[in-house]
Amino acid sequence: RLKVGVLISGRGSNLQALLDAAADPSFPAEIVLVVSNVPDVAGLDRAKKAGVATATINHRDYKSRLDFDNAVTNTLENSDVEFVCLAGFMRLVTKEFVEHWHNRMINIHPALLPLFPGLDTHQRALDEGCKLHGCTVHFVRHEMDSGPIVGQAAVPVLPDDTESSLAARVLTAEHRLYPECLKLIAEQHITISDNQLTYTQVSLTAEDIL
Ligand code: GAR
Repeated sequence: RLKVGVLISGRGSNLQALLDAAADPSFPAEIVLVVSNVPDVAGLDRAKKAGVATATINHRDYKSRLDFDNAVTNTLENSDVEFVCLAGFMRLVTKEFVEHWHNRMINIHPALLPLFPGLDTHQRALDEGCKLHGCTVHFVRHEMDSGPIVGQAAVPVLPDDTESSLAARVLTAEHRLYPECLKLIAEQHITISDNQLTYTQVSLTAEDIL
């Protein structure tokens, strides 16, 4: 099984979705380490409950972004991590970190990229009057919330939606999308070279995910 490290900063509900999927021995990836840059967050408890090793690497303890990122890479590699999933990891990473994990790191973002990179995605979708919104799993490139798209899930925006009702609908879709994308990569049904994704024996459709 592909050895995966998950980076978090908080609640860890996407981490939970990955842990739940990986609890099935037939899932092609295993979570070997969860790293948080924020101490004592709920996601760390989720990992411990699942019997997965954890590390807290507080970015405030490091002089520079690069020092912090290098500490994260060292910790991941000491646990033999082969592939990294960012799951609500709210730190900008350095070019060096992105290069090191090139094509070996994916992120989940709560919008249909390239729409709404950055923060406050749900409120921005509401403000724009979007009728569809959703989430994206993508390989990580240096520019924030950019990179080749692995999969997306769309949800409707309903007339009486608030930011929180829309966020909850998207989050449910995130929890389905993220393990599905990781599975396809770990099974090598999705491969990437340069910026070109190749899908082998699969086509990822909304029906697969929702
Ligand atoms: C998720 O909605 C994730 O897509 C988002 O943060 C939330 C984390 O929730 N990520 C970003 O905004 C990254 N820029 P979780 O900790 O419960 O998985």
